[in-house]
Amino acid sequence: MTDSTVQKSVEKSRIFSGIQPTGNLHLGNYLGAIRNWVSLQHEFESIYCVVDLHAITVHQNPGDLRKSTREVAASLIAAGISTDRSILFNQSCVPQHAELAWIFNCVARLGWLNRMTQFKEKAGKNRENASVGLYAYPTLMAADILAYRATHVPVGEDQKQHLELTRDIAQAFNSIFECEVFPLPEPQIFGSATRVMSLRDGSAKMSKSDISDNSRINMTDNADLIMQKIRKAKTDPDALPSEVAGLVGRPEASNLVAIYAALADCRIEDVLAEFGGRGFGDFKPALGDLAVSKLSPIGDEMRRLLKNPADIDAILADGAERAAAITRPILAEVRDVVGFLGASTDL
Ligand code: TYM
Repeated sequence: MTDSTVQKSVEKSRIFSGIQPTGNLHLGNYLGAIRNWVSLQHEFESIYCVVDLHAITVHQNPGDLRKSTREVAASLIAAGISTDRSILFNQSCVPQHAELAWIFNCVARLGWLNRMTQFKEKAGKNRENASVGLYAYPTLMAADILAYRATHVPVGEDQKQHLELTRDIAQAFNSIFECEVFPLPEPQIFGSATRVMSLRDGSAKMSKSDISDNSRINMTDNADLIMQKIRKAKTDPDALPSEVAGLVGRPEASNLVAIYAALADCRIEDVLAEFGGRGFGDFKPALGDLAVSKLSPIGDEMRRLLKNPADIDAILADGAERAAAITRPILAEVRDVVGFLGASTDL
């Protein structure tokens, strides 16, 4: 590529990503997504969304939803999302997400949605009782991204399948309506902690929905709690290996080493060069200190921001205006391509 084509492709790049306001954000959200959002905003036009429409695919207490939406927004700002540089807003304030999601419900095939593993996990055995929204969750996610014609989507590994579906929907729409309205967005899954595992079980993903609070480090945990959770984290009796190959078959050790590397911004090899041959009695306190030094300032700043909820609400409202200014013309084009008569009253 020449310098000018590189420049052109950077200019055309647009980042979009989202996060659910359901309970506490945890270390997996931070290392798998948020930290990357912070670094990408310096290079690209970036749009970050608190996905409250997605949250209600399972029942939410209205008061808790409002509180969580503010908390998640405050955590993102505290973690370094600049609301001047990036757009930060909550999904339900920009109606084009829901409008495009409906159109995509009419493009996506049942067979495509039937393959979604996240629906199977979340619906569990009681599938008949799951909401239609939970089933259609990925078409709304595709709408989130494509309503902005976003080209890059930074996420953790668990969202990869949804991103593949988004590409399929974009492609199908372009082909059905014989147009080039949507780009095929690229997932951005990077860093050494794209899938942070539970502290209690190295084969399960760290998740907000795990009933054990000891399975995760929340962004709001204080220093004592972080140290205590890491001290209690499940491990095996062996010392840490000096080579990466020695981590094979040791999921808990691999997870803790990956967390350390991600927090210290170094390679797994560097962590093993320092701790290889040493036991968890040495490693865990070092990991705990590192986690506290990185996460405590974010938790403190988040609590400070939450003292003025009206300020958070104003930031989100401003973000929604800026977001809608991008989605309105794109949806006008989509409406025209689909054959809808007239213009949206939201204009
Ligand atoms: P959510 O709210 O579950 O998670 C937000 C982000 O955190 C990442 N993540 C993890 N990364 C590494 N290890 C973990 N244990 C871990 N747990 C969560 C997720 O991959 C995600 O990047 N469907 C999305 C929200 C969404 C969205 C979108 C994302 C809605 N619309 C459009 C991108 C683009 C979700 O439920 O993320």
